[in-house]
Amino acid sequence: MPSISKRKEDHLRIAAKPNAQYSDPAGFDDVLLVHNALPEVNLKSIDTSAKFLGKTLSAPILITGMSGGTDKGGALNQKLAKAAEKSKVALGLGSQRPMLKDAKTLAHYKVRSLCPSIPLIGNIGAVNLPEYPLEKIEWLVSSIEADALAIHLNPLQEAVQPEGDTNFQGVLRSISKVCEKLSVPVIVKETGAGISGPVAQQLFESGVKFIDCSGRGGTSWSKVEYARGGRLPGFEEWGYPTLPALVECSSFGPTICSGGVRSGVDAAKAIAMGAQLAGAAWPFLGAADPSLVAAQWREQIRTSMFLCGAKNIEQMRNAPLIVGGRTSEILNARGFDMRVYSSRSVSPSAASTPSPSERGHYL
Ligand SMILES: Cc1cc2nc3c(=O)[nH]c(=O)nc-3n(C[C@H](O)[C@H](O)[C@H](O)COP(=O)(O)O)c2cc1C
Repeated sequence: MPSISKRKEDHLRIAAKPNAQYSDPAGFDDVLLVHNALPEVNLKSIDTSAKFLGKTLSAPILITGMSGGTDKGGALNQKLAKAAEKSKVALGLGSQRPMLKDAKTLAHYKVRSLCPSIPLIGNIGAVNLPEYPLEKIEWLVSSIEADALAIHLNPLQEAVQPEGDTNFQGVLRSISKVCEKLSVPVIVKETGAGISGPVAQQLFESGVKFIDCSGRGGTSWSKVEYARGGRLPGFEEWGYPTLPALVECSSFGPTICSGGVRSGVDAAKAIAMGAQLAGAAWPFLGAADPSLVAAQWREQIRTSMFLCGAKNIEQMRNAPLIVGGRTSEILNARGFDMRVYSSRSVSPSAASTPSPSERGHYL
């Protein structure tokens, strides 16, 4: 088996285990959605739908990129594609680098016929971009009929991976060139170590349309690589936690929240804290039927909205909440004022509703 395929199989096997998760939290426990004992809405008529990449989702949920490049990875992509179509959530595929090494692996990513109506997202590592002409990157998208390309930033993983590629010089320029020419929008994502506000700002200024902040608190890629014999221990818990990363990134542009999202209640908190969508990988990796996970999360989002008195996702974005603990400490230290979240209201008539630019913005 070529080394890249062996690596992908190792990743799927090791990442599925619970000991490849961070011990340090993402921050969802620090967020308290203010309970509304008088919601004045009918739970059954709450609208959880959300628009993404011109398509309508049943709920703002994304299964983030995980697999491809091997027969097992291809089978997982097919399973996830069927589940995403059934539950009407968005789907990201894993890194398509294997396709650039061996065009035959395209079969592992060709799942569009199984999920014709949902947003499908291609994937490539930022550090690999300089190796390939733009036509090849365009082919990654066109050959699988993707609606967007996710470019992943994974310096932590590469730094500890036995065979990692650690030359990140010029990566921003490569991303900017792709954004300029590619026929579909570019999403830049981390793989679980988080994206800070200043990095998000540079990426948005370079033409990136969405950031997936993919913060610390879920799957730990350093732990995965250590289990493969990775170099230089000590980085097991390294990363910027998901909630602070979400608040920072979303103050600069549209942000997907992933990294340790483990329920629809977490997803609801992410939406209320400024996310366009909530994304997750690990909970869908080991699920016997990933569509059941997505369906349960959708119902948990709906019930969270009911208990906040929000009739639709737009109203949920204004749900009052309190941010405490480590998340509040980090964000205060970074110059954010957490009081804007507690003083707002889902009611459109409430005068205290802050504009998006006021929401959790740098002071
Ligand atoms: C088995 C597995 C494989 C992954 N492969 C990729 C990948 O190829 N490209 C990528 O951008 N992210 C990849 N990721 C990272 C996820 O998309 C996500 O950013 C990260 O796991 C954090 O989310 P989680 O805590 O819900 O797992 C992978 C995650 C898992 C669990």
